[in-house]
Order: sequence, then C-alpha cells, then structure tokens
Amino acid sequence: MKNVGVFGLGTYVPEKVFTNHDFEKILDTSDEWITEMTGIKERRFAEGMETSDMAYEAAVEAIDNSGVAAEDIDLVIVATSTGDQQFPTVATMLQQKLGLRPVPTMDQLAACTGFIYGMVTGAQFIQTGTYKHVLVVGADKLSKITDFNDRSTAVLFGDGAGAVVLGEVEEEFGIKSFDLGSDGSGSDYLYDERDTGTLRMNGREVFKFAVRQMGESSVIVTEKAGLTKADIDMLVPHQANIRIMNAARERMEMPPERMSSTIDKYGNTSAASIPLSIHHELKNDRIKSGDNLILVGFGGGLTWGSICMTWGVK
Ligand code: COA
Repeated sequence: MKNVGVFGLGTYVPEKVFTNHDFEKILDTSDEWITEMTGIKERRFAEGMETSDMAYEAAVEAIDNSGVAAEDIDLVIVATSTGDQQFPTVATMLQQKLGLRPVPTMDQLAACTGFIYGMVTGAQFIQTGTYKHVLVVGADKLSKITDFNDRSTAVLFGDGAGAVVLGEVEEEFGIKSFDLGSDGSGSDYLYDERDTGTLRMNGREVFKFAVRQMGESSVIVTEKAGLTKADIDMLVPHQANIRIMNAARERMEMPPERMSSTIDKYGNTSAASIPLSIHHELKNDRIKSGDNLILVGFGGGLTWGSICMTWGVK
C-alpha cells in the first residue's frame, strides 16, 4: 500500500467579518456570553458567493501550492452540507471552474466531519494505486441555513473553505491511521429542518457527544498509528466550541500550545474548519515537516472521524 500525504493546501474565507457585537444588535445575546460559552469572537459570512465559489478559491491555492498540474488531478471530492443546489454537485461545478479533465467527482456529506471523511476516502484511491492525485475540499456556507432568530445556534457558525491535494509520499510521511464512525440514533440532535431548510440543534446533547467522541477518537488513531500521546506535536480539532476542543486536548494530555485554535476568528465553519486551522498553523510555523498531527472532527449524523498523520512529503 502506498503512503498518502498532503502535497499542497489552500484556504478561503469571505471578506465580511461579523462580530459578536454585531450579533448584540440583532439578538438578545452578548459578546461576553458567546466568548465564554464558545470561544468565538467573530466569523465570516459569504455575500454574493456560493459554496462552489469558496471551494474554487481554496482549490486554486491548494493546486498552486502542490506543484501538481491541474490536468493531473484524477478525482475531486467536495465535503459539504451546503451545496449551491441539491444537484449538480459542488465537485462537478468545481471541476468545470478549474477546467479539469473529465475525471470523477463527488460530494460527500458527513456534516462537520466531512473533511476527515473526504480525506480518508481520497486516500484509499491513492493507497491502492488507482489514482495519483486527489483534490479534497471542505467548503460550507452555513449562513445559508442559519436561523438568525435563534440565538442558541446563530452565533456559532461561519462560512469558509479549505482544500488539499493528496498524493503518494515517502514512507515516513503521510496518513498513519484513521478512525471513522457514525451513530444515527443522534440524528435528531443536529439537522436541517425539512420544511424550512434551517439548522436545528440540541446543543446539550451535541456537546456531550462531542466531548466524549473527539477525545476517544484521538486516542484510537494515536494507538493505531503505534504512537503515544507524547508523540503528537499538534492536535487539530474541528472548531466547534473551545470547551469541546479543550476536552479532547485534555484527554490527549496535551498542553494548550499544542492545540490549533482558530475558533475566535472564524467560528464553526463546518467542513472547512480543519484545513483553515492547519493553514493558520503552517503560516505561523507551528506545523513543520515531520510533525505528527491528529485531525479530529465530529458533526451532524452524528458522525465523527480522525486522522493521525506525519506532515510533509519527503
Ligand atoms: N446568548 C445568550 N444566551 C444564550 C445564547 C446566546 N447566544 N444561546 C443560548 N443562551 C441561553 C439559553 O437560552 C439558556 O437560557 P435559560 O437558562 O434562561 O433557558 C442558557 O443560555 C443555557 O442554554 P443551553 O443551550 O442549555 O446552554 P449550553 O450550556 O448547552 O451551551 C452551546 C450552549 C450551544 C454553547 C453548547 O450547547 C454547545 O456548544 N453545544 C455544541 C454545539 C456544537 O458544537 N454544534 C456544532 C456541531 S458540529
């Protein structure tokens, strides 16, 4: 089996910043409550842009950074819960916008766990030698399904996109292990309402699930990779709530400086949150070639997933 790693990464966030103080003007809430309960200070909202537009911006940057020519992409996977329309898929739109060959394309829906599901799916094709380069994008425009009259959910979400180009890497690099799961008995806890299309959530139940599952899954992938908690250089959790992220970090017995946190800037960007966070750490030289990372997420479904990987290609 081939080793699969990230050749290049790209991200996009919309220009429009919406702060907690902006929410104070439209909802019965406060900067203090939001900050204390979630860690969020501001988020971005896409205006005049669809999910495929954000996906495109992130994908162009990822392809540029990968050194792989666009015509050498063999498969496109887009993780999203907020496609431009029911169909065609965002992945197909992206293929067209990027001018790729008529390669296979698919959207994958695992809500906020989507990026992990997408990376693991894409990696299978490279591991088996079926394809050489897979473009995986996590893109969501949560503002499209947010109920801006519901203070318990509206303040949590933001829009954005992140993308990676996966390919074969030297043996010491790349994905070492993964863990995926779902529990449909939790489908009532986080969903888009059939009649209105807006997001509904039982925050308490999702919180309990996430605290348990993100820590558990992180431990599982560490062990599967044959590593110990002390070998992990950086935990990159789905950015849903700083308290949930810290619980996973504590389960991994890692200090705060070894966890990526961008939730204050972007809120919960669903399938985009993990690549946005990796980008942030790379930019600040906090992730380097050879570092062991855990990417871990959870979301509607309920779903969860994690990847243990060594960053770098050769
Ligand atoms: N501003 C002020 N008060 C708010 C508020 C807001 N934005 N949102 C909720 N409240 C109030 C509630 O109305 C409630 O008031 P009451 O006690 O008078 O009824 C109180 O705060 C507590 O609400 P509750 O929903 O029980 O709080 P909580 O401790 O569960 O925290 C969340 C709420 C949303 C922060 C928390 O449940 C959470 O983060 N859950 C996980 C959500 C998540 O990660 N979703 C995405 C998954 S990918």
